[in-house]
Amino acid sequence: MSEGGLSTKTVQAPAKVNLFLRVLELRSDGYHELETLILPISLADRLEIHADADPSFRTLAFSLEVTGDDDLVERVPRDEANLVVRACLALARRTGVHGFADISLEKRVPVAAGLGGGSADAAAALWALNDLWGCGLGPVGLRDVGASVGSDVPALMVGGPVLARGRGERVEPAPMRPLSLVLVTFPFSVSAAEAFRCWDQAGGPTGPDPAAVLDPGSEVEALAASLFNDLEEPMTRLHPEIGRAKRTLLEGGALGAAMSGSGPTVYGVMPGPTVRLEARAEREIAGLSGRPPGYVTSTGHKP
Ligand code: C5P
Repeated sequence: MSEGGLSTKTVQAPAKVNLFLRVLELRSDGYHELETLILPISLADRLEIHADADPSFRTLAFSLEVTGDDDLVERVPRDEANLVVRACLALARRTGVHGFADISLEKRVPVAAGLGGGSADAAAALWALNDLWGCGLGPVGLRDVGASVGSDVPALMVGGPVLARGRGERVEPAPMRPLSLVLVTFPFSVSAAEAFRCWDQAGGPTGPDPAAVLDPGSEVEALAASLFNDLEEPMTRLHPEIGRAKRTLLEGGALGAAMSGSGPTVYGVMPGPTVRLEARAEREIAGLSGRPPGYVTSTGHKP
């Protein structure tokens, strides 16, 4: 989605949940071989990008401003740890452009929460800058740049439900029904590296065949009953709140629940867009996580 003048674009960067996440093995390069279903959701950051490139520019200039709630903004890195910065530099390096990019990032997605917020920002920035800078990369080339930025970036460049394999960079669209979800986010972050280390230390459990989640004809009850995440159990041992949030979601009306990505966010699948958790469960979640549960829908489905 974009709007604006010739050299300015405003784009949404939808977060994601993982409907299943299977860790298959630790690879010799330190990454883990994965199989995961990534579903974009209506919770999104917003980027306003003003950029231009031209052979008459002699350098590449870049600026990043971050706005949003204080507790979110203070946790967004401004250096190369920020995936938007990395995406911008990687695209410029790949295509040799000279010019500028001034990016204003309105942050709404919790940071390092398993929701892919930083990766979504990078994915949105790559699409927009490819256009504004006139780089001319196609989807495959652009996803390749995305993979050099982070494992989740190529999947979030697709703009709909995706089955991701390899370290996450091998992606294919996965048609599925729209879902109504409820999110439990926490005031603490975890790094993906830490979550995968926990999986290694737990002896590397691998979950079941995810056929029911992948079948676009599955009823929502069957799909919700089949959610799983191989990183969840090891992470729950480290942060028991994750397990308590999941139990509360299931007791409060969710059809199924799981941790998203490397956590700590836990999501539940609700029977429909207007259905809320029981009031008691909403209160328990607010007490556990310090914030009310957030109701969202999945996005990017083909009509
Ligand atoms: O690729 P990305 O920078 O997002 O990965 C962050 C960290 O998460 C990696 O350094 C690695 O420790 C871990 N990771 C992994 N296997 C994956 C993806 C990420 O071990 N498939």
